[in-house]
Amino acid sequence: MYALFFRLFFRRMDAERAHHLAFRWIRLAARVPVLRTFVAAALAPRYESLRTEALGLRMHGPFGLAAGFDKNAVAIDGMAMLGFDHVEIGTVTAQGQPGNPQPRLFRLVDDRALINRMGFNNDGSAAVADRLAARRPVFRTTVGVNIGKTKTVPEAEAVADYVTSTERLAAHADYLVVNVSSPNTPGLRNLQATEALRPLLTAVREAAARTVTGRRVPLLVKIAPDLADEDVDAVADLAVELGLDGIIATNTTIARDGLGLASDPRLTAETGGLSGAPLRDRSMEVLRRLYTRVGDRITLVGVGGIRDAEDAWQRILAGATLVQGYSAFVYQGPFWMRSVHKGLAARLATSPYATLAEAVGADTRKVTV
Ligand SMILES: Cc1cc2nc3c(=O)[nH]c(=O)nc-3n(C[C@H](O)[C@H](O)[C@H](O)COP(=O)(O)O)c2cc1C
Repeated sequence: MYALFFRLFFRRMDAERAHHLAFRWIRLAARVPVLRTFVAAALAPRYESLRTEALGLRMHGPFGLAAGFDKNAVAIDGMAMLGFDHVEIGTVTAQGQPGNPQPRLFRLVDDRALINRMGFNNDGSAAVADRLAARRPVFRTTVGVNIGKTKTVPEAEAVADYVTSTERLAAHADYLVVNVSSPNTPGLRNLQATEALRPLLTAVREAAARTVTGRRVPLLVKIAPDLADEDVDAVADLAVELGLDGIIATNTTIARDGLGLASDPRLTAETGGLSGAPLRDRSMEVLRRLYTRVGDRITLVGVGGIRDAEDAWQRILAGATLVQGYSAFVYQGPFWMRSVHKGLAARLATSPYATLAEAVGADTRKVTV
């Protein structure tokens, strides 16, 4: 049904306009008590077997919404209503900014992919912190807060920029993500080099601990699929050394070669980060590499090209405790999360593993012993 609706309606519309329209509907539905209860009952049935403990947090399941969809924390309940077990808001920057000029979001329908060069359009960490503080949650869900660098702030002052956002947002975050991997802020990905990443993560962690005293805010870093393998290892080692809680693998890719893109070359040539199905193999590879390196010492979050329950299950077997999606939601619509949950529960039930936690990394461990 959604496929037909997408073809007849959303596909004809500018991609960003379609996003805003769908987003408005979700927010509206979540505001009407009877409707949201009905929608949540239909789309977000809970499976006891999928209950997940990760980052010291209890979640309904392992499957969440990746950053970038709800940049300003305006639709957390709406996304929870649709069945996401956690919602990662952001990327939020210290100063509000408009992002890049439009058009900046492109649908590669034949590839089930997207290219975006949004450029961290967001209201800024002060406004988003106020919004989170005022929020009265309707659905119990885990809220991750993803932070990045303000575009106009020079790389040399990046640490202070992230620290400002941390001071404003940490208190409202179930977990905090340092995003150093979006391709659309010039210089941002240089922060993945360990010489830059070490002081950044240390400063953010100290700022979070200073601001939030009653609990420890789990800290994660989100990395790009375009890192060379040795650099993936270096980030993994640094994360272990610093006692980081998690790594999110991966963001979008700037690569186009070797991805088997079927779409119009004019579209695939657009600059920006590619997400969706063509990203799947590289994201999986990075995840496997990370798990081989860090094992169970750090929580891994698998994201990039997950299309269905089987993809999510494979990420878990490769080493992900949590999985996230974005692009497939655009193509598959509001029933997607339900089918992923159902499929995951079915796979777990017929697997040799008694719990989801037991399944985490099982395939990668087999290969490496
Ligand atoms: C339009 C769009 C905007 C995004 N914005 C962000 C962002 O602000 N911060 C971030 O960390 N990732 C962002 N992402 C990346 C996603 O969180 C995710 O890592 C990536 O899309 C791969 O997952 P997918 O293949 O399921 O889409 C964005 C992705 C898309 C498509």
